[in-house]
Amino acid sequence: MMRRWLGMKLQNRRVLLIIGGGIAVYKVLELIRRLRDEGARVRCVMTAAAAEFVTPLSVATLSADRVFTNLFDRDDEHDVGHIRLSREADLIVVAPATADLMAKAATGAANDLASAVLLASDKPVLMAPAMNPRMWSAAPTRRNHATLLADGVQFVGPKSGAMAEAGENGEGRMAEPAEILAAIIAQLAPAGPLTGRSFIVTSGPTHEPIDPVRYIANRSSGKQGHAIAAALAKLGAEVRLISGPVTIADPSGVKTTHVQTAREMLTAVEAALPADGAVFVAAVADWRVDSVATDKIKKQPGAGTVPSLAMVENPDILATVGHHAQRPKIVVGFAAETRDVVANGEAKLKRKGADLIVANDVSAEGGAMGGDRNRVTLLSAEGAEAWPEMDKLEVAERLAQVIAARLNGGPTRA
Ligand code: CTP
Repeated sequence: MMRRWLGMKLQNRRVLLIIGGGIAVYKVLELIRRLRDEGARVRCVMTAAAAEFVTPLSVATLSADRVFTNLFDRDDEHDVGHIRLSREADLIVVAPATADLMAKAATGAANDLASAVLLASDKPVLMAPAMNPRMWSAAPTRRNHATLLADGVQFVGPKSGAMAEAGENGEGRMAEPAEILAAIIAQLAPAGPLTGRSFIVTSGPTHEPIDPVRYIANRSSGKQGHAIAAALAKLGAEVRLISGPVTIADPSGVKTTHVQTAREMLTAVEAALPADGAVFVAAVADWRVDSVATDKIKKQPGAGTVPSLAMVENPDILATVGHHAQRPKIVVGFAAETRDVVANGEAKLKRKGADLIVANDVSAEGGAMGGDRNRVTLLSAEGAEAWPEMDKLEVAERLAQVIAARLNGGPTRA
């Protein structure tokens, strides 16, 4: 088990934190800090009551974002709005969930921003109740709790113990930040067959500079590599994605390093070793310009000459890792071919020291390069397996399953 990349289980996951009014708010400040340590993006909505206990400024500072408080703030409605606030989250967390907020959520009231966001949301909701024990055990709160459970709301806590009010004791204390965090991680990064495994994934093209304004590139979009990184993360893996220049967003649940050139990609990959597995999806430029011009190469009008570029070979990242002293247990490469897909792929399997090669047809008719769909053949020592044409996301999910089965000693066929 390699746990080198701990602390990023929620990388790029978006948590909308609805902060109710109660003395437990002070624990929520700690929760915000821990969520951010895990890589989450935290956006906060505060009720008017919450703002009596802690200032929106403290919450804004800790969350590194503006805080939303008012349903009728014309600016908020104009540029974010309660619908978008809930839509842009992966999970809504209500902490502390007061008796009042639970009642509003259970009945569908929407008379402030917090309750309107909850009503407008189709995202999973996690509530961390905090209230006086008599309020928690009161019949209306019991009914609301049952309704919310039936609606699919998850709960963490409350706990028994001393309350902030002197002399009060019983069930109603908000769960500790560590418990709430664990519940959030369980919701957003559930355990799977790759939990505890670390992976390196390369994706996208590389850009090899010619001079300060020009470079050599290829048509890779990064879609397939990014989808594989996300699919491995969905199975529980800790994933380090090393991406060349792409225009698509960093996948959620994954730690992404951005590089430009093949040599930078190799350095980043080697720095991420050791890992349990590595998947090389990047379309790495095979050659680079031997000496990059420090100034823009100028045209020579009328001279009748054009510049010629002396090229040198780039390092082969897959082959380097496939034969590395710290070789991961499973090494997967891609083979971009325009003809003899299987024969060329099998040669690459041996030459590059890979366990699996995903061979794909990148001829113009195949449309894999830059497109959304892919037809691949999976090659391993056990033979070739042709998959039907499918969406790149489906290729990613099936490949992640095959990788998990191989690592866990299960069947090696899809
Ligand atoms: N690859 C790599 N580093 C390189 C070139 C390729 O890591 N410098 C990896 C790719 O990420 C892919 C696999 O090697 O997983 C095969 O890439 P491909 O372009 O198909 O093969 P090449 O080695 O470039 O062979 P050719 O161009 O002759 O087909």
